[in-house]
Amino acid sequence: QSNAASRVGSQAATPPRSVVGIGNKVAKPDYSEAKIVVAMVGLPARGKSYLSNKLMRYLKWLEYDVKVFNVGQLRRSRARQKAQESGKHEDHTASYFSHDNVEATRLRDQLATDSLDMLIQWLRDGGNVGIHDATNSTRSRRAKIEERVAQEKGFVTIFLESVCDDPALIAANVALKVSSGDPDYKDMSREEAKADFLRRIKQYEAVYETITEPHLSYLRIINVGNQVTVCRIHGYLQSRIAFYLMNLHLKPRSIFFSRHGESQYNVEGKIGGDSPLSERGQKYATALPALITDNIGDAPLTVWTSTLQRTILTAQHLPYNKLTWKSLDELDAGVCDGMTYEEIEHAYPDDFAHRDEDKFNYRYRGGESYRDVVVRLEPVIMELERQENILIIGHQAILRCLYAYFHNLPQADLPYIKIPLHTVIKLTPKAYGCDEERYTLPIGAVDTHRPKPGSSPQLQLSGTGREYYGEKA
Ligand code: F6P
Repeated sequence: QSNAASRVGSQAATPPRSVVGIGNKVAKPDYSEAKIVVAMVGLPARGKSYLSNKLMRYLKWLEYDVKVFNVGQLRRSRARQKAQESGKHEDHTASYFSHDNVEATRLRDQLATDSLDMLIQWLRDGGNVGIHDATNSTRSRRAKIEERVAQEKGFVTIFLESVCDDPALIAANVALKVSSGDPDYKDMSREEAKADFLRRIKQYEAVYETITEPHLSYLRIINVGNQVTVCRIHGYLQSRIAFYLMNLHLKPRSIFFSRHGESQYNVEGKIGGDSPLSERGQKYATALPALITDNIGDAPLTVWTSTLQRTILTAQHLPYNKLTWKSLDELDAGVCDGMTYEEIEHAYPDDFAHRDEDKFNYRYRGGESYRDVVVRLEPVIMELERQENILIIGHQAILRCLYAYFHNLPQADLPYIKIPLHTVIKLTPKAYGCDEERYTLPIGAVDTHRPKPGSSPQLQLSGTGREYYGEKA
């Protein structure tokens, strides 16, 4: 990866102010000064929406308020409205995207401007990062964006150009567009849709200007992560965005999550600690290598554990490279470490009730909240994006936080996600989101999931939950 002319400054979007706790409830970090417009640049089928959505998922996980403003969606919804009002259907086949089509070019410019205005209004109303998902492929369009955003005090623009010259990648993006039920192509056969979309790309190619404007803040990403150019990126959040995007790649891979085998503390109903495995936990550690190798074959894999012995013991028979991360240690329960939930309820009744009221924000006395854990896991997420096949042998709270990132789950649900013992969760990143499979080994274990008192049905397993009995899945 190349990183030309990168600089970390301290302009707008400074680090969040310190987190103020009320009692043991931790307030959301103050991100109110972060006001960033990320304007995408690139031909159709270059992964702009993919990058927009990935970036949104990452920043939302870190609790920034992020929204993607997709100009294509606005175009379609306006066209639908017009059709309802006048009965006339606008033609959005390739000729609509031709620069020679003066009326359509005017309409498309208007859509981009309106979408940017909506984005700016949304930032004014409290949003942090608005992503303008459009082609923005000419200098004049980019100049207009710059000029408009500069009218807003403290607002910053970053252009994010996605360049793709890998024919296989482009073909995959084109195939995704025409096969995904895209509304632009709902009345066409696949072949017609593909031919029309390729013509549309040609129309854009005719006027496309890569970013060369010397004064712009921009990132240019070539073939999603193969090469990245970073220019005039100043400020905390901007640098963070750049760093994240530099770590992305599209190589097919899987991420496996497993909790450690059942521990002695699990059997006794105690939380935290550093106890060894129970007898059933040891059986799980012995059975795990077959499950993983059956699944992954000869492909390379690295195993990450925490520094706690229950994860290291669970990984002991796995024939792969291993890495120990302090950041993967279980949520620190502070003064409650080593107690059962019943003991905590008895000794700290108010705390216990507060945790049930708002589990994501509750911070154990002398310990951590789920929010604290998300912050400490950020480097793990960054490294996970960079790596290929990884198996994490972790803990209940830790795996909930990582799982919520990959599935884009809201914070309120995060502390209740079911991550049972003796179960391997396989996540395979796809264009949008992740496919999931679960393999449960037939070795009994206690259930450590404590549902939210008085709640309706708990968050269910997503993906395919299946028993694993040693056969190839
Ligand atoms: O019970 C096992 C455990 O990993 C504890 O060590 C930890 O405190 C707990 O799970 C986290 O789960 P919860 O947030 O639901 O209490």
